[in-house]
Formats: sequence, C-alpha cells, structure tokens
Amino acid sequence: MKVGGQHFRTIWLNPANEQVVQLIDQRFLPHRFVIEDVSTVAQMATAIREMHVRGAGLIGATAGYGMYLATIEAAGSPAVAGFDRHVTDAAAQLKATRPTAVNLAWAVERQLTSIAKGKSEVRAAQALDWRKTVQRKVALALATAKEIAAEDEEHCRMIGQHGLDLIEQVARRKNGKPVNVLTHCNAGWLAFVDYGSALAPVYAAHDRGLSVHVWVDETRPRSQGSKLTAWELGQHGVPHTIIADSAGGHLMQRGSVDLVIVGSDRTTCTGDVANKIGTYLKALAAQDNRIPFYVALPSSSFDWTIRDGSEIPIEERGAEEVKRADGWRDGQMLEVSVAPENSPAANYGFDVTPRRLVTGLITERGVCKADEKSILELFPEHAS
Ligand code: MRU
Repeated sequence: MKVGGQHFRTIWLNPANEQVVQLIDQRFLPHRFVIEDVSTVAQMATAIREMHVRGAGLIGATAGYGMYLATIEAAGSPAVAGFDRHVTDAAAQLKATRPTAVNLAWAVERQLTSIAKGKSEVRAAQALDWRKTVQRKVALALATAKEIAAEDEEHCRMIGQHGLDLIEQVARRKNGKPVNVLTHCNAGWLAFVDYGSALAPVYAAHDRGLSVHVWVDETRPRSQGSKLTAWELGQHGVPHTIIADSAGGHLMQRGSVDLVIVGSDRTTCTGDVANKIGTYLKALAAQDNRIPFYVALPSSSFDWTIRDGSEIPIEERGAEEVKRADGWRDGQMLEVSVAPENSPAANYGFDVTPRRLVTGLITERGVCKADEKSILELFPEHAS
C-alpha cells in the first residue's frame, strides 16, 4: 500500500544488503514513519515480542525472515551439529515471542522443513562439502521467507476480491449511500505484508469507486485501531471515524453499521475465532442487531489441530499497557499514567468468538460458513 504516495510492504530485504531485513517499526505510528534494520535473530525476536511488528500475517512473515537470519548466523558453525542446534534454538526463541497468532509457529515450522531439505538434497547429490550444504540451507531459508511473504500478500489480495462481493451486495441495497463497515483492532496492511485481511475488501471497494466508511474501534489498551487502522485508511483516502471501544453497540442499534469485518489471529478448523480482545462483544452486539459479522483470514491463520476455541492460548501482556497511555507532544513520545498506581490491572490480549456468532469467513479461496464442513470444502487438503 502507499505511504505518502510511495509503495511499501511492511517487511522487506535491504536491497543493498540481503542479510539485513527492514521493517516498519509500528510503535511510532501514526506520528513517525520509522524503518528498522534487523540483522540478528535476537533483534527479530524483540521486534515481535515488543510489537515493532504485529498482526498475525506479519508476525508469520517476520518469523520466516527471522529463520533466514538464523541460518546466516548458524553458517558460522564449524559442523552440522552446531548449525542444526543454532537453527533449532532460534526456532524456539522465535516461537516463544507471542502465543496466540498461529502464523508464527506455522512459519517457523515451514522454515524448519525447508532448511532440513537442504541437507538431504546435498547428500543426494553426493556433495558432502559442508560449505555447500550450508549455502544451500541459507538459500532455501531465503527462498522460503520470500515465499511466505509473497503468499501472504497474494492471499490478502484475494481476500479483498472475495470480500468486495459482500460490500457490493450491501452497496446495491443502499443505492449509493455509504456502506458502513465496523472493524476492531488493526487487520489492515500493517498487520500483514500488504493489503490486510479485514481491510482488504474495504480497500478493494474504495478503489472500485464504491462509497465506504469505516467505524474504527480505538482498541485499547495498545490502540491499534486509532493509531494504525485510522492511519492506514487515511493514507489510502478511505473515509473513517475513530470510536471508543464501547460505542459499537450503540451505533449498531441506530442502524449506522451495515456489516462488521474483523481479522483473526487463530481460527479453529471448526470455525471458532480468536481475535483482539473485545471482538467477542462486537459479535454479540452484531447478532442482537442482525448485522452480518464476517471474519477475514488467510489460511495460514487456521489452526487445523484444534477443534475448540477454548484451546487457543490467550496472550496476557503487562499491566502497564492498561494503566498507561502514550502519545506525542512537541515531537516527543510521552507516556502518562491513567490509573491509580496501586490498582492491579489485567491485560488479556485476545478473546474467542464462537462460530455461532460468525456469519462467514472470508479466505483467499472464497467465503464460507464458520463450520467445519464448509471450511473443509474450501480446504479439502486438511480433511483427515
Ligand atoms: O496484538 P496484535 O496487534 O498483534 O493483534 C493482532 C491484531 O491486529 C488483531 O487481533 C487482528 O484483528 C487480527 S491479526 C490480522
């Protein structure tokens, strides 16, 4: 997507040095556009844990590049065992950064499979030269990191096209009046490599010339809605309004919301959806007001191994995120206290919306109902 008229992805390789990964450090948005250089696994793990990058798809792509950096670091090992140990440790380090978005483990596992292939391929060619094996593994990890990122981008583009149909249907009914979409957190291009999941249909509709307006939930405590979603919609020229997290129900009762589209950090193969804390309450309000509630996700956000949303690990972050708020003044980022210093606070990062509250899932292969049968019809390769 465009920033100040220039095309950006959220993560890329430094064109002058492919051993350096560059990413948009989202902690400074919307006030500063900062690009961070990352060249070690430790830096990459920090970038994910401390949320320089965040959002399911981007966390996965970042982990993919992190594993590529792991092979570069491991290439210094004098023997196979040392190389393998470094890569395995890096995989564990990256996987431990954030628990809920399944894309993280998915990308790391995909890299481990790919890197392991390097050894057998070189062995098969009878080229037991250790240097060659290492070069092959680094090349495979690089190719896989690029593949994961490119796939994420393409899947989000497709989600946009499938979701566009849904917005077009509402637009036809509304006869040119704006279609009002409510979204929670940030499932736009900043949460992926490009396009986004929940916002991809909105961008597609806007680019098609349809009138769309987005209600942007602020999304406390980290305010991904007011900081990130509002910023990226503004960059693309999409009309939007930031609302307090608790305002959605009121707007739905007044007929000001036509559909809700949110993203997902992990969706079970039966259709239960984990997304940013507060999503469940939006789904309840949507059902009470008979407003369609869609979840947009690439297939990398399905967890094919679990059947019930209660099994999804829910991240708990530091209390200071709830008790403090940050903002900018005179070019400086300031943090202020917004709660009594001695009051304890709890900070649950995600909640689970049960499938019965979800109207449909928008995936790269099309829209389906949030139930196992419909999901497996779209993704039959996961039927056991
Ligand atoms: O904690 P975050 O910012 O990494 O949370 C992820 C999200 O942005 C949302 O839950 C999003 O709606 C789904 S991930 C695209």
